[in-house]
Amino acid sequence: MTTWNLQGTVSHLLICNGSSCKKHKGEEVAEAIEDEIEKQGAQSLIHTTVTRCNGRCSDSCVVIAYPEGVWYKEITPKSAKSLVRKHLQGERLEDHLLYTYDGQLMAADDKGAKGKKKK
Ligand code: FES
Repeated sequence: MTTWNLQGTVSHLLICNGSSCKKHKGEEVAEAIEDEIEKQGAQSLIHTTVTRCNGRCSDSCVVIAYPEGVWYKEITPKSAKSLVRKHLQGERLEDHLLYTYDGQLMAADDKGAKGKKKK
């Protein structure tokens, strides 16, 4: 168990490691993100949390970035490294956008608008 001092954190990445994302290299994605954060010397800027299912299994592996509220789909270990670099530059990984946030989540393409309707 760890208690980090998170003051100064600028980005929080939630990396899905639910069963579907794990089948799509979720653990390797988490490892790639951690490696790239360390390579960039950004440990104090980017905090990560591995999560269970985020409810978008067909988009595995899912990574969510805060404070932007951006959801990413189909993240691979390779694109995970790009995601870290993009966020450090204040940019997004446009090719993997699933949802953007502007007061509410908005699907970045048709795929994000598909799925079971919540009541
Ligand atoms: S297991 Fe990752 S979204 Fe469901």
